[in-house]
Amino acid sequence: MTNEAIPDLPEFNDSALDKAFAALERRATDDAAALPSPEAVEAFRLRWLGRKQGLLSEVSSRWLKAAPPEAKKPVGERFKTLKELVERLLDQAAGAGPTDAALAAEAIDITLPGTRRLTGAEHPITRTLNEITQVFAALGYSVGVGPEVETDYYNFESMNFPPGHPARDTQDTLVVANQERRPLRDRLLLRTHTSPVQMRTMEQQPPPVRIVIPGKVHRNDAADATHSPIFHQVEGLCVDTNITFSDLKGTLDHAMKALFGSSVKTRFFPSFFPFTEPSADVQISCIFCGGNGCRKCKQSGWIELLGCGMVDPAVFAFAALKQPAYDPRKISGFAFGMGVERIAMMKYGISEIGQFYAGDMRFLGQFA
Ligand code: DAH
Repeated sequence: MTNEAIPDLPEFNDSALDKAFAALERRATDDAAALPSPEAVEAFRLRWLGRKQGLLSEVSSRWLKAAPPEAKKPVGERFKTLKELVERLLDQAAGAGPTDAALAAEAIDITLPGTRRLTGAEHPITRTLNEITQVFAALGYSVGVGPEVETDYYNFESMNFPPGHPARDTQDTLVVANQERRPLRDRLLLRTHTSPVQMRTMEQQPPPVRIVIPGKVHRNDAADATHSPIFHQVEGLCVDTNITFSDLKGTLDHAMKALFGSSVKTRFFPSFFPFTEPSADVQISCIFCGGNGCRKCKQSGWIELLGCGMVDPAVFAFAALKQPAYDPRKISGFAFGMGVERIAMMKYGISEIGQFYAGDMRFLGQFA
């Protein structure tokens, strides 16, 4: 574009000004319409905004400075509008910067799939734990919890493991350091089972009690394919008048069928736990072979799953220290405890307990 000079203004009335400025606005707009390169944009800037020879400085000196006093304001306003237009045009030209090729290189392919946000899912242990508690909740049990750092009294003594009793050795755990000055019963340890919450529950409420207690427990056990020093249990306690071993059998038989399918059978074997008398281990018919015998059940057709028994009167005696209604001559009850990992491994066919804790999304994603 040739740099035509700015003509002098013959008149300074409104319509003459409108006409003159409209012509310049058109000229600037046309000029800015074809700026193919950064160099052309720069030339445009110099042509219009150049400090000495720019068209706007010429307009300023020829029109604005030359205007009679009463025309200064109308010329000034129009000049300001024109300058804003030129600056806007320049901004647009500069912003439109990149060439088609550069644009193509930066282009976003909006047909590509977006970044997927993973939705969380219950961990298989949490899920199994909830499933177990729900089976009992449906029977009218409530759900309780207790502390993971427990006293010797609740974890052992009140569960009828007297100090020095050999049964304590089967449940070795971490103890909190520097407690030698405390009486043994007050010393803290990581609970080895959820059973102490039986006592905590009974101390808080008189019978009847029907409660399940899910929770994390700790043992000095070497990790292998089926053992972990930290694992989960669900404890159960039912205390009322006239609770019998048949109630225990019926309840657990129902629970196993609810968890593993209605064709599962149960059988009870004599066992020992300090806090129950009599005690039993519960076996279920092998869910892998239907009881015919396979590698998983060591050809026996049965799999051992949990411990249970009738609450030992000695345990009620400890509860009665706080709640006299736990009088073993008037009430009776049963208790049971099961390992959540073991049940989850069976339900989902998992052979390595470590998978639960490894945080591997390929494993966990299968439960989503
Ligand atoms: N506390 C036992 C354990 O950790 C499991 C258990 C067995 C709990 C029998 C009970 C029960 O309540 O009656 O090995």
